[in-house]
Amino acid sequence: MKIVKYPNSVLSKKCQEITEFDAELVSTLNEMYKVMYDGDGIGLAAPQVGISKRMIVVDIRSEEIPQIFKMINPKIIKKSPDMVESEEGCLSLPGIRSTILRYEWIEVTYIDENFKEQVIKAKDLLAICFQHEIDHLDGKLCIDRLKRNEKSKIIKEYNRKKMELENAQKMSE
Ligand code: CO
Repeated sequence: MKIVKYPNSVLSKKCQEITEFDAELVSTLNEMYKVMYDGDGIGLAAPQVGISKRMIVVDIRSEEIPQIFKMINPKIIKKSPDMVESEEGCLSLPGIRSTILRYEWIEVTYIDENFKEQVIKAKDLLAICFQHEIDHLDGKLCIDRLKRNEKSKIIKEYNRKKMELENAQKMSE
């Protein structure tokens, strides 16, 4: 499993609902968790490893919320009336941060790794992380929530950094 980077087209596709619950699904979730952890991320969605299916892993690595979330078919069922500003990075957009608006809290239903239905109300970083990862399942990146001119500025910055990195790699070969 490798992290897929922008602008790979799998990142802009809407993912399919999961209908088969088997051991393979659980091992995929576990593998996704490892990739996320090794990449120092706090969340990862299946399309980010090239799998166009509705599953995410989240671990915000806080003492307050020590739980690791492995979520199948996560769905937001309630949203706060208020939005908050959120500065976000993404493992598929290395080197980039973008500030966007997110719901302050949300309620999410999902199926856990034991195939039980769960519902959770999340706020703060956990709520933001869920929204970011669920967006991935709908083919949406955090930069897609920026205004058009801000998005093109950020993409330019991303391409510049990517080129610098590729040149540095060539030099060291
Ligand atoms: Co992301």
